[in-house]
Amino acid sequence: MDLDSAKLNAARAVFEEVGRYEVIGVGTGSTVEKFIELLSKQERFKGKLYVPSSIDTALKLSERGFRVLNLLSSPEVEVYVDGADEVDPRLNMIKGGGAAMTMEKILAYYAARRLFIVDYTKLVAKLGEKHPIPVEVLPCALSPVLKTLHKMGFRVELRASGRGKAGPVVADTGGVVIDVYTGPLDEPEEVNRRLKNIPGVVETGLFLGYADAVYIGWPDKVEVLKPSTVIKV
Ligand code: A5P
Repeated sequence: MDLDSAKLNAARAVFEEVGRYEVIGVGTGSTVEKFIELLSKQERFKGKLYVPSSIDTALKLSERGFRVLNLLSSPEVEVYVDGADEVDPRLNMIKGGGAAMTMEKILAYYAARRLFIVDYTKLVAKLGEKHPIPVEVLPCALSPVLKTLHKMGFRVELRASGRGKAGPVVADTGGVVIDVYTGPLDEPEEVNRRLKNIPGVVETGLFLGYADAVYIGWPDKVEVLKPSTVIKV
């Protein structure tokens, strides 16, 4: 309940800024779901254009009557709003708990402004403290990529899909999702570079330097952090 109100507070706080833009990229996850719910309650957001990062978000938007575009047809994404699984003091992040990190990263990269909304439990001193790094892999390269990661010393798990499909989670972008357990990372840039260097790896859930602002929701307040803000965890 506490967590729910923390997420809602972050989603509510980002509104002010998002209202200035007409083409809005929308991430994936439970915090973003609260953001979409709030959007649907305000008439001024009905006429805007939305570019979703996943099928799930596209459905949630279109069910509520919003106009949904994709990157092929959309003009520039003016602002992108998304959640995250971990946020470090430099506002680097792990994303991909919902297996949508490839499209999320594409949207975040090309958007003119990137805003993230998280609850306070997402703050960590070092990325990798609580979550593995999600990695999308081309299905045809799965075995060699797994072997390579093992050789590099990483513990890796194929993310198992839930009810309704046997076998691994396949992302909307077509790759198999694996989780790479690194433990707390001193140099996320180096790990990201090594992962992305493996042929067959499509994308990683390490979002380094992608946040223009992170709205941290607490049960009773919201903090807005910019890349220059020093935070204590
Ligand atoms: C989706 O693939 C993820 O990147 C989400 O943005 C992330 O997992 C945060 O989700 P919650 O808002 O549900 O915690």
